[in-house]
Amino acid sequence: MPANTALDADAPRGTAEAAGSAGSAGAVGAAGTGEPPAEAVTPLIRGIAVLRELTEAGGTLSPSALERATGLARSTVDRITATLEHMGYVRLDGREVVLAPPVMELGNAYLAALRLPALLDARADALADELDESVSLAVADGDGIRFIHQATRRRAMSLSFRIGDLLPAERTAPGPLFAAEWTEADWTRWHARRAADPEDTGFPAVPRTRHASGAAPVADGDFPQRSAQAATDGYALDDQLIEPGLVAVSVPVRDPATGRISCAANVVSHTSRHTATGLRDTLLPRLRDAVTAMEADLRDAQPASPGPPPSGLATWTTASKTELGRGFVESLARGLTVLTAFGEGRAHLTLAEVAKATGLARATARRALITYEHLGLMTTSPDHRTFTLTPRVLSLGFPPLSRTTLPQLATWHLRALANQVGESTAMAVLVPPEPSAGTREPMIQLTARATTPRVLSPDITVGARFPARATSLGRALLAPGPSRPYALADEELESGLRSIAVPIRDRTGQVVAAINISTHAARRTLDDCVTHLLPALTATATHIQTDLHTASRFTHVPPT
Ligand code: PHB
Repeated sequence: MPANTALDADAPRGTAEAAGSAGSAGAVGAAGTGEPPAEAVTPLIRGIAVLRELTEAGGTLSPSALERATGLARSTVDRITATLEHMGYVRLDGREVVLAPPVMELGNAYLAALRLPALLDARADALADELDESVSLAVADGDGIRFIHQATRRRAMSLSFRIGDLLPAERTAPGPLFAAEWTEADWTRWHARRAADPEDTGFPAVPRTRHASGAAPVADGDFPQRSAQAATDGYALDDQLIEPGLVAVSVPVRDPATGRISCAANVVSHTSRHTATGLRDTLLPRLRDAVTAMEADLRDAQPASPGPPPSGLATWTTASKTELGRGFVESLARGLTVLTAFGEGRAHLTLAEVAKATGLARATARRALITYEHLGLMTTSPDHRTFTLTPRVLSLGFPPLSRTTLPQLATWHLRALANQVGESTAMAVLVPPEPSAGTREPMIQLTARATTPRVLSPDITVGARFPARATSLGRALLAPGPSRPYALADEELESGLRSIAVPIRDRTGQVVAAINISTHAARRTLDDCVTHLLPALTATATHIQTDLHTASRFTHVPPT
């Protein structure tokens, strides 16, 4: 499996600190690099490899590319992708295997258990607004840093990282801060990684080699000094260590109980606006104020209240086995449900708690936990009683999906709907009236659309605007009444055009878009639309909402 050298170059050590727990697990020192323990679940190791390769490839690979990347046999790749598809984690789009929003529930489990995003994201966002610069939060992940939040300004001039991206510590601003807490063994591991992978090929999110990127080569010898300096200063700078122009300043956010670093808060800019020292002189004071407020928030936070455990997760896997037979890799599906047992107020779980939450037999849950520990996705407490997810869980699909927009997320479902009912479907949002139009009538704009070749479809395209009140989409957006939650439009926009629409709601229940099916008056009566089209339309709205709610738990999903 050639790809595993790259996969394992960033193997995290005990990263329980990042989750606010004490102790590191020496047992996973070389997570994933050595032979798996005898009890490890091979199909789970393979399924994880497939998810990680898809993630590193940006979310899409053909089965044969997966075969090459993982070194697995084609039949194995097919069974794994069929299982992941059944779980909703991937979709088969033509010949491609594509990561799908439900896989974000794995990263969500880690981020919810960590709790830092729920407690600190709003402060990071406010700081980004105040400074008009990108602000991020990062945790330590072995000898790398991994992003858990991004409040990004859209600017042309700089590369911006995604939630879940992993960077080598020595090429970042937060890295020296985290390294100030490293042990001898951590430094040895860092030296070994630098020697084995001088071009940073184990970090697919950063430009391949610093030389090819044109950035000044970094003297690695400096890193220990930079780290010592950062410990004294209480901040650290990145002066174009990743790419020319990119500069950052970082301050540690300390756990009020232990005094150890929970995460680092970073302000990121470009040399066209600030030099690295300019960042320090002008923005560091405000970053420090924000971090003081973050630490106060951590101190004052109520203990995490555990939601209901996701009980009985394992039952459906048995049902699926019956349904899919040999094509369904039950041990993979069961193993993956173990990750979702973790969450808010459920950061450190015992074997018994994992078994109870998932409905798995203890022996099954235990083997999955051992597998995850081997893969560096979990650590155990020093007494080996509790298990904690590591930041590496974010490498399972999160970064490519963290940039999804609502139209991208909806298009898959709209295409399925168009094929199912043999009519055109569309999604729209409300937009302000155009001043030039001389009317204050609310308008809608189409944001996604799917048609079927069997149908002579109305000639409208994404981006088109219409008066809201003349369309079913507009009516669903303007008056999404809860009792009869659909809207009809009958030949108002265009003679012969008849349509039915329902609203799409975000996690807070607010209507953010609407979807419709449009048909020809000659083909269907209004009654027919309600009786025959509405159930499929409502089911599609539910699918889109479920994906939206998963995707937007820790990321911003733009409505357009
Ligand atoms: C980022 O948030 O994109 C970032 C943070 C710290 C760095 C570089 C980039 O050193």
